[in-house]
Amino acid sequence: MLQDRRRTLAYKNAILGSKEEFAGKVVLDIGCGTGILSHFCVQAGARKVYAVDASNIADQAKLIAEENGVADKLVVIKGRIEEIELPEQVDIIVSEWMGHCLLYESMFDSVIVARDKWLRKDTGFLFPSHASMFMAPFNEEDYYHEHVDYWNDVYGVKMTSVIPLAEKCFFREAEVAEIDACHLLGQDLLLKSFDLMTVTGEELREFSVPFSFLSYQINELTGFCIWFDVKFETRQMTESIKSGRTDVRPVVLSTSPYEEPTHWMQTLLHIPATVSLFQDDPITGTIVVRSNPIHVNRKMLFSLSLDLYSFEEKPVKEEDKAEIMKLMKKGRQNKYAALGKLDERIARWTVEMKVGKKGKKQAALNTKYNWTPGGVSKKEIEPPPALTTKCGSLQFDFELE
Ligand SMILES: C[S@@+](CC[C@H](N)C(=O)[O-])C[C@H]1O[C@@H](n2cnc3c(N)ncnc32)[C@H](O)[C@@H]1O
Repeated sequence: MLQDRRRTLAYKNAILGSKEEFAGKVVLDIGCGTGILSHFCVQAGARKVYAVDASNIADQAKLIAEENGVADKLVVIKGRIEEIELPEQVDIIVSEWMGHCLLYESMFDSVIVARDKWLRKDTGFLFPSHASMFMAPFNEEDYYHEHVDYWNDVYGVKMTSVIPLAEKCFFREAEVAEIDACHLLGQDLLLKSFDLMTVTGEELREFSVPFSFLSYQINELTGFCIWFDVKFETRQMTESIKSGRTDVRPVVLSTSPYEEPTHWMQTLLHIPATVSLFQDDPITGTIVVRSNPIHVNRKMLFSLSLDLYSFEEKPVKEEDKAEIMKLMKKGRQNKYAALGKLDERIARWTVEMKVGKKGKKQAALNTKYNWTPGGVSKKEIEPPPALTTKCGSLQFDFELE
């Protein structure tokens, strides 16, 4: 964690960049670890920093405070934040509580308890002060080949019988991994923003957000990517921004695929299907994000409802939906062959093309529609039909654990 330079430097820059707000203040560092963030607060002029950690790392933090000659200001307390007592109320809470996908194994429930008990209500603030989750659709076909197709020929041995299990594992579990931004198929969408001063545990527990993207290009949708940002905005900054000042720019720590990676990476929801898209095709639906109420914050659940579109206004029949899912699970060559026969109305699933390297696929599409990426047709030939009529939806569930 310490080695995650983007993470640690974001905290350092935010704290040292707000010296006037830390000077003479009392700070609480929740889950201090080695105490690195507490040291930044002392450097920023804090009068007292209470550094709390439940694990044995607190003993090390004490030694580090001593060897830096700041043990009079930086007071390490070993214990759970929910159980310890502080000698006074605090002006600022600093904590690095974020988990993968913001809320997985996150410590924010503990931060809420401490905020409500120890932070001065009228003048206090939290660092970070705000958190936001984002989502974007992506194409990552290699995932399917690496995790599913792979079993068809393992060093010359057929292991196709493993495929149902592989699909169960790899398409129900959310994957924490880096994705290159060039794989994204649509603009990022803000899923949810939290003001950490006021958010409640209940608000973090479950939220549902409709999503809507327009595909950037001809490609196949194979999943959705989620990431988060946290912002370090002091009360003074908020006031200045409200009063119209545009030169106030709080530090933002972003785990976006457009930025250099952090140890949080991104969270990928690979759907057990590929959805063929043309430029500007709609990608719409709803995502429900849940933190498991039993093992609070240890597990995250995602329910994704993805809309199906057709050329005509005819709903997809329930029995067709089951057939679609069955075919999709068989692998894509079968899927295209069989779906083509299944029902032309399900246009989204029936683009005929060769599956292979991107170039080949693009060429096949260009030939079929005389269509070039960017939406300009080479000749004056009819563009592919637009998918505008919603005709049903498919449901996918994922766990992050
Ligand atoms: C991600 S580490 C943060 C380390 C440190 N703040 C840094 O920036 O390097 C989280 C720390 O929180 C501590 N922790 C987790 N839950 C806690 C709780 N309820 N009370 C106190 N400490 C807790 C863990 O022991 C762990 O050392």
